[in-house]
Amino acid sequence: MGVVGPNGGGKSTLVRLLNGLLKPDAGAARVYGRNPATEPFEVRRKVGMLFQNPDNGLVAPFVEDDVAFGLENLGVPREEMRVRVAQAMRAVGLSGYERREPHTLSGGEKQRVALAGILVLEPEVLILDEPTSMLDAAGRREVLEKVRYLRGEKTILHATHHLEELADADRVLVLNDGEVTADVTPDRLFANAGLLRENRLSLPPVLRLAADLGLPLHRTPEDLATEILAEIGDGAGVP
Ligand SMILES: Nc1ncnc2c1ncn2[C@@H]1O[C@H](COP(=O)(O)OP(=O)(O)OP(=O)(O)O)[C@@H](O)[C@H]1O
Ligand SMILES: [Mg+2]
Repeated sequence: MGVVGPNGGGKSTLVRLLNGLLKPDAGAARVYGRNPATEPFEVRRKVGMLFQNPDNGLVAPFVEDDVAFGLENLGVPREEMRVRVAQAMRAVGLSGYERREPHTLSGGEKQRVALAGILVLEPEVLILDEPTSMLDAAGRREVLEKVRYLRGEKTILHATHHLEELADADRVLVLNDGEVTADVTPDRLFANAGLLRENRLSLPPVLRLAADLGLPLHRTPEDLATEILAEIGDGAGVP
Protein backbone atom coordinates (compact mmCIF):
# COMPACT_ATOMS: atom_id res chain seq x y z
CA MET A 1 0.00 0.00 0.00
CA GLY A 2 1.27 3.45 -0.87
CA VAL A 3 0.82 6.66 1.10
CA VAL A 4 1.03 10.00 -0.68
CA GLY A 5 0.10 13.59 0.06
CA PRO A 6 1.54 17.10 0.27
CA ASN A 7 4.20 18.22 2.77
CA GLY A 8 2.62 18.21 6.20
CA GLY A 9 -0.19 15.93 4.99
CA GLY A 10 0.41 13.45 7.78
CA LYS A 11 2.41 10.60 6.18
CA SER A 12 5.23 10.58 8.72
CA THR A 13 2.77 11.14 11.54
CA LEU A 14 0.88 8.01 10.47
CA VAL A 15 4.14 6.05 10.36
CA ARG A 16 5.19 7.28 13.80
CA LEU A 17 1.78 6.47 15.27
CA LEU A 18 2.10 2.94 13.94
CA ASN A 19 5.37 2.20 15.71
CA GLY A 20 4.67 4.04 18.92
CA LEU A 21 7.11 6.92 18.38
CA LEU A 22 4.11 9.21 18.68
CA LYS A 23 1.02 8.94 20.83
CA PRO A 24 -2.32 9.95 19.33
CA ASP A 25 -4.05 13.03 20.80
CA ALA A 26 -7.38 11.42 20.00
CA GLY A 27 -8.43 7.97 18.82
CA ALA A 28 -6.11 4.99 18.88
CA ALA A 29 -3.74 3.11 16.62
CA ARG A 30 -3.78 -0.69 16.48
CA VAL A 31 -1.28 -2.99 14.81
CA TYR A 32 -2.31 -6.65 14.86
CA GLY A 33 -4.67 -5.73 17.69
CA ARG A 34 -1.88 -4.22 19.76
CA ASN A 35 -1.52 -0.61 20.81
CA PRO A 36 1.86 0.72 19.62
CA ALA A 37 1.78 3.51 22.21
CA THR A 38 1.71 1.05 25.12
CA GLU A 39 3.37 -2.01 23.55
CA PRO A 40 5.97 -0.54 21.19
CA PHE A 41 8.38 -3.46 21.44
CA GLU A 42 5.79 -6.11 20.61
CA VAL A 43 4.66 -4.04 17.63
CA ARG A 44 8.19 -3.34 16.40
CA ARG A 45 8.89 -7.07 16.28
CA LYS A 46 6.26 -7.42 13.62
CA VAL A 47 6.76 -4.12 11.85
CA GLY A 48 10.08 -2.99 10.38
CA MET A 49 10.63 0.68 9.61
CA LEU A 50 12.91 2.30 7.07
CA PHE A 51 13.31 6.08 7.12
CA GLN A 52 14.55 8.82 4.84
CA ASN A 53 18.13 9.30 5.91
CA PRO A 54 20.40 6.33 5.19
CA ASP A 55 22.98 7.66 7.68
CA ASN A 56 20.64 7.38 10.63
CA GLY A 57 20.92 4.11 12.41
CA LEU A 58 24.18 2.93 10.84
CA VAL A 59 26.44 3.04 13.88
CA ALA A 60 28.56 -0.11 13.99
CA PRO A 61 32.15 -0.33 12.69
CA PHE A 62 31.28 -2.96 10.07
CA VAL A 63 28.23 -3.54 7.91
CA GLU A 64 27.64 -7.03 9.31
CA ASP A 65 27.46 -5.64 12.86
CA ASP A 66 24.89 -3.09 11.80
CA VAL A 67 22.74 -5.75 10.18
CA ALA A 68 23.10 -8.00 13.25
CA PHE A 69 22.32 -5.22 15.74
CA GLY A 70 18.61 -5.97 16.19
CA LEU A 71 19.27 -9.72 16.55
CA GLU A 72 21.89 -9.11 19.22
CA ASN A 73 19.32 -7.16 21.20
CA LEU A 74 16.97 -10.12 20.95
CA GLY A 75 19.66 -12.47 22.27
CA VAL A 76 19.69 -14.71 19.19
CA PRO A 77 22.47 -17.35 19.35
CA ARG A 78 25.66 -16.51 17.45
CA GLU A 79 25.45 -19.27 14.82
CA GLU A 80 21.82 -18.52 13.95
CA MET A 81 22.72 -14.85 13.82
CA ARG A 82 25.46 -15.48 11.26
CA VAL A 83 23.10 -17.43 9.01
CA ARG A 84 20.32 -14.85 9.22
CA VAL A 85 22.68 -11.92 8.60
CA ALA A 86 24.08 -13.67 5.52
CA GLN A 87 20.54 -14.29 4.25
CA ALA A 88 19.52 -10.68 4.75
CA MET A 89 22.66 -9.39 3.05
CA ARG A 90 21.90 -11.63 0.08
CA ALA A 91 18.29 -10.42 -0.02
CA VAL A 92 19.42 -6.82 -0.52
CA GLY A 93 22.17 -7.76 -2.98
CA LEU A 94 25.07 -6.94 -0.65
CA SER A 95 26.76 -10.31 -0.11
CA GLY A 96 30.48 -9.64 0.23
CA TYR A 97 29.95 -6.28 1.96
CA GLU A 98 30.03 -7.79 5.48
CA ARG A 99 33.40 -6.30 6.47
CA ARG A 100 32.93 -2.94 4.73
CA GLU A 101 32.76 0.14 6.94
CA PRO A 102 29.33 1.79 6.63
CA HIS A 103 30.77 5.27 6.00
CA THR A 104 32.48 4.02 2.83
CA LEU A 105 29.16 3.01 1.21
CA SER A 106 27.04 4.97 -1.24
CA GLY A 107 23.61 6.22 -0.14
CA GLY A 108 21.83 3.42 -1.97
CA GLU A 109 24.09 0.82 -0.41
CA LYS A 110 23.59 2.32 3.07
CA GLN A 111 19.85 2.27 2.63
CA ARG A 112 20.05 -1.38 1.58
CA VAL A 113 22.15 -2.16 4.68
CA ALA A 114 19.43 -0.52 6.78
CA LEU A 115 16.84 -2.62 4.94
CA ALA A 116 18.88 -5.79 5.63
CA GLY A 117 18.95 -4.83 9.33
CA ILE A 118 15.16 -4.82 9.25
CA LEU A 119 14.67 -7.95 7.13
CA VAL A 120 16.95 -9.93 9.43
CA LEU A 121 14.29 -9.53 12.14
CA GLU A 122 11.75 -11.17 9.82
CA PRO A 123 9.00 -8.59 10.22
CA GLU A 124 5.55 -9.24 8.78
CA VAL A 125 5.09 -5.64 7.72
CA LEU A 126 7.54 -3.11 6.31
CA ILE A 127 6.91 0.59 6.71
CA LEU A 128 8.95 2.86 4.47
CA ASP A 129 8.87 6.63 4.93
CA GLU A 130 10.35 8.24 1.80
CA PRO A 131 13.17 5.68 1.70
CA THR A 132 14.58 7.04 -1.57
CA SER A 133 14.26 10.79 -1.12
CA MET A 134 17.93 11.32 -0.29
CA LEU A 135 19.28 8.97 -2.94
CA ASP A 136 20.50 9.61 -6.47
CA ALA A 137 18.88 7.88 -9.44
CA ALA A 138 21.04 4.76 -9.19
CA GLY A 139 20.51 4.50 -5.42
CA ARG A 140 16.76 4.88 -5.83
CA ARG A 141 16.70 2.12 -8.43
CA GLU A 142 18.68 -0.21 -6.15
CA VAL A 143 16.36 0.31 -3.20
CA LEU A 144 13.14 0.23 -5.22
CA GLU A 145 14.13 -2.99 -6.92
CA LYS A 146 14.36 -4.67 -3.49
CA VAL A 147 11.14 -3.06 -2.31
CA ARG A 148 9.34 -4.23 -5.41
CA TYR A 149 10.56 -7.77 -4.88
CA LEU A 150 9.49 -7.66 -1.21
CA ARG A 151 5.96 -6.61 -2.22
CA GLY A 152 5.41 -10.21 -3.21
CA GLU A 153 6.37 -11.44 0.26
CA LYS A 154 5.30 -8.88 2.85
CA THR A 155 2.77 -6.19 3.54
CA ILE A 156 4.42 -2.89 2.70
CA LEU A 157 3.31 0.60 3.60
CA HIS A 158 5.32 2.99 1.46
CA ALA A 159 5.10 6.77 1.92
CA THR A 160 6.58 8.76 -0.94
CA HIS A 161 6.38 11.92 -3.06
CA HIS A 162 7.21 9.95 -6.19
CA LEU A 163 3.98 8.57 -7.59
CA GLU A 164 5.76 6.36 -10.10
CA GLU A 165 7.19 4.35 -7.18
CA LEU A 166 3.65 3.22 -6.42
CA ALA A 167 2.59 2.15 -9.91
CA ASP A 168 2.50 -1.48 -8.82
CA ALA A 169 1.05 -0.94 -5.32
CA ASP A 170 -2.35 -2.50 -4.66
CA ARG A 171 -3.76 0.59 -2.89
CA VAL A 172 -2.77 4.18 -2.36
CA LEU A 173 -3.90 6.29 0.59
CA VAL A 174 -3.93 10.03 -0.01
CA LEU A 175 -3.33 12.02 3.18
CA ASN A 176 -3.94 15.75 3.29
CA ASP A 177 -4.17 17.93 6.35
CA GLY A 178 -4.17 14.86 8.57
CA GLU A 179 -7.14 13.23 6.83
CA VAL A 180 -7.42 10.32 4.41
CA THR A 181 -8.82 12.09 1.34
CA ALA A 182 -8.75 9.02 -0.89
CA ASP A 183 -8.12 5.29 -0.77
CA VAL A 184 -7.75 4.19 -4.38
CA THR A 185 -5.83 2.00 -6.79
CA PRO A 186 -2.82 3.70 -8.40
CA ASP A 187 -4.53 3.59 -11.82
CA ARG A 188 -7.51 5.51 -10.49
CA LEU A 189 -5.36 8.04 -8.71
CA PHE A 190 -3.19 8.63 -11.78
CA ALA A 191 -6.27 9.10 -13.96
CA ASN A 192 -7.98 11.56 -11.61
CA ALA A 193 -6.59 15.02 -12.41
CA GLY A 194 -8.88 16.71 -9.87
CA LEU A 195 -7.83 14.43 -7.01
CA LEU A 196 -4.17 14.91 -7.89
CA ARG A 197 -4.51 18.71 -8.04
CA GLU A 198 -6.45 19.01 -4.78
CA ASN A 199 -3.70 17.10 -3.00
CA ARG A 200 -0.79 18.91 -4.64
CA LEU A 201 0.29 15.74 -6.42
CA SER A 202 1.59 15.70 -9.94
CA LEU A 203 2.19 12.86 -12.32
CA PRO A 204 5.78 12.49 -13.43
CA PRO A 205 6.16 12.86 -17.22
CA VAL A 206 6.69 9.16 -17.87
CA LEU A 207 3.37 8.30 -16.20
CA ARG A 208 1.55 11.15 -17.98
CA LEU A 209 2.84 10.04 -21.33
CA ALA A 210 1.96 6.39 -20.70
CA ALA A 211 -1.52 7.36 -19.50
CA ASP A 212 -2.06 9.51 -22.61
CA LEU A 213 -1.01 6.62 -24.82
CA GLY A 214 -3.48 4.37 -23.01
CA LEU A 215 -0.77 2.01 -21.75
CA PRO A 216 -1.33 0.01 -18.56
CA LEU A 217 0.53 1.75 -15.72
CA HIS A 218 1.17 -1.23 -13.44
CA ARG A 219 4.92 -1.42 -14.01
CA THR A 220 8.26 0.12 -13.18
CA PRO A 221 9.22 3.51 -14.65
CA GLU A 222 11.98 1.81 -16.65
CA ASP A 223 9.54 -0.66 -18.18
CA LEU A 224 7.07 2.13 -18.87
CA ALA A 225 9.73 4.13 -20.70
CA THR A 226 10.60 1.09 -22.82
CA GLU A 227 6.93 0.55 -23.58
CA ILE A 228 6.44 4.19 -24.54
CA LEU A 229 9.41 4.08 -26.88
CA ALA A 230 8.09 0.93 -28.51
CA GLU A 231 4.68 2.56 -28.91
CA ILE A 232 5.90 5.78 -30.51
CA GLY A 233 9.03 4.33 -32.11
CA ASP A 234 7.45 3.26 -35.41
CA GLY A 235 5.87 6.50 -36.44
CA ALA A 236 8.04 9.03 -34.63
CA GLY A 237 10.92 10.90 -36.15
CA VAL A 238 10.74 9.13 -39.49
CA PRO A 239 10.16 11.55 -42.37
N1 LIG B 1 4.11 15.79 17.56
C1 LIG B 1 3.37 16.64 16.85
N2 LIG B 1 2.45 17.44 17.46
C2 LIG B 1 1.69 18.27 16.73
N3 LIG B 1 1.76 18.39 15.41
C3 LIG B 1 2.63 17.64 14.75
C4 LIG B 1 3.47 16.72 15.42
N4 LIG B 1 4.24 16.08 14.50
C5 LIG B 1 3.89 16.59 13.29
N5 LIG B 1 2.93 17.53 13.45
C6 LIG B 1 2.27 18.26 12.36
O1 LIG B 1 1.48 17.34 11.65
C7 LIG B 1 1.44 17.69 10.28
C8 LIG B 1 1.81 16.47 9.45
O2 LIG B 1 3.22 16.30 9.43
P1 LIG B 1 3.93 15.03 8.78
O3 LIG B 1 5.37 15.14 9.10
O4 LIG B 1 3.21 13.81 9.20
O5 LIG B 1 3.67 15.27 7.23
P2 LIG B 1 4.24 14.46 6.00
O6 LIG B 1 3.04 14.08 5.18
O7 LIG B 1 5.15 13.38 6.42
O8 LIG B 1 5.02 15.59 5.23
P3 LIG B 1 6.39 15.51 4.35
O9 LIG B 1 5.92 15.22 2.97
O10 LIG B 1 6.92 16.89 4.44
O11 LIG B 1 7.28 14.48 4.94
C9 LIG B 1 2.35 18.87 10.11
O12 LIG B 1 1.56 20.03 10.07
C10 LIG B 1 3.22 18.84 11.36
O13 LIG B 1 3.64 20.13 11.70
MG1 LIG C 1 7.17 12.99 6.13
